[in-house]
Amino acid sequence: MDFSLTEEHIMIRDAARDFAQTELLPGVIERDEKQQFPAEQIKKMGELGFLGMMVDPKYGGGGMDAISYVLAMEEISKIDASASVVMSVNNSLVCWGIETFGTEVQKQKYLVPLAKGEMIGAFCLSEPEAGSDATSQCTTAIDKGDYYLLNGTKNWITNGSNASVYLVIAQTDVEKGHKGINAFIVEKGMEGFVVGPKENKMGIRGSDTHSLMFTDVKVPKENRIGEDGFGFKFAMKTLAGGRIGIASQALGIASGAYELALQYSKERKAFGKEISRHQAIAFKLADMATEIECARHLCMKAAWDKDNHNNYDLSGAMAKLYAAEMAMRVTTEAVQIHGGYGFVKEYHVERLMRDAKITQIYEGTSEIQKIVISRSVLR
Ligand code: CAA
Repeated sequence: MDFSLTEEHIMIRDAARDFAQTELLPGVIERDEKQQFPAEQIKKMGELGFLGMMVDPKYGGGGMDAISYVLAMEEISKIDASASVVMSVNNSLVCWGIETFGTEVQKQKYLVPLAKGEMIGAFCLSEPEAGSDATSQCTTAIDKGDYYLLNGTKNWITNGSNASVYLVIAQTDVEKGHKGINAFIVEKGMEGFVVGPKENKMGIRGSDTHSLMFTDVKVPKENRIGEDGFGFKFAMKTLAGGRIGIASQALGIASGAYELALQYSKERKAFGKEISRHQAIAFKLADMATEIECARHLCMKAAWDKDNHNNYDLSGAMAKLYAAEMAMRVTTEAVQIHGGYGFVKEYHVERLMRDAKITQIYEGTSEIQKIVISRSVLR
């Protein structure tokens, strides 16, 4: 078994690291405080190919593997998880969903600008009453011949106001349960589509999260993704890959906090020596480093499964579960190592701790990951 990275992987990781240091780090605290979307930085990420990393070059993407994506996600997330969630949703959910299941017309029209970062996408599954229980969709799309008539509300939508392309999951036939669900490509500006107010969040405050309202929106029939009734499976398959992205985000948030705590512990003195030389702190650092390495291996295994066309439902859910729980533990310890400084904004770790929390919640809570994992191991 070979754990070494290729030269190309190292180059991609270093490019993401440089970008994060030079473009994302300046202003990250201010953007968090003001809940300001990193528009300029996301535009540059698009130009550098970070928004369509795994998309086939013939559709404007980077043609990279999932290992490269994990490496880049970790580096971007170390510095700015608000930027990395935009990257994750665009890459793993929107681009992947359209590239894998879309028609050629949909790919030319939507995937090409999404992969080049000229447009941003959003994935719209959650509803006021359907987050974890994804089959209980209340949004309806009624077949009217040439078009579907879309009505309903979506909640907690990442890129809510900054996206131009929205993948919307809706019920087309209640009688059929999950087999009566479809996925649609909805464009911003379609009549009857309104973006609701922005959520005031605990973490990833630079990303924009909105509710979306659809009232009699006419969605052309050619905007349905896949065969009639494919929408729930589309959502599940797409989220399975999305979980690799969010696991890598959690990994990055944790390793960012760890690196700051490590550096601080070598500088800060107490009781006559650097605090890293006190066993209480050294053991914390040892635990943090070990847990981060475990999460990194799980992320890489899931990415490797994806690259090798193995099923990655289980490895992706395990990576997401472990990395998210680990990120919460590691960032909390990073704040603890910083003492009072960890509790104030200019030391970054308090933001990373707030950002870590969402990784236990979105793209399926930790409890949802346990459902996926337990079903698999009990099968
Ligand atoms: N691939 C393909 N098919 C799948 C699948 C997968 N990964 N998972 C389930 N299915 C299929 C099943 O095989 C089944 O099909 P059949 O009836 O033909 O056998 C069908 O889908 C229904 O499956 P289940 O009975 O397992 O469905 P369930 O109602 O028990 O739900 C669940 C399973 C895992 C709990 C699911 O509802 C789920 O993942 N919920 C969480 C949703 C989620 O992650 N929401 C996050 C929103 S997106 C987001 O956060 C993005 C963002 O902004 C960052």
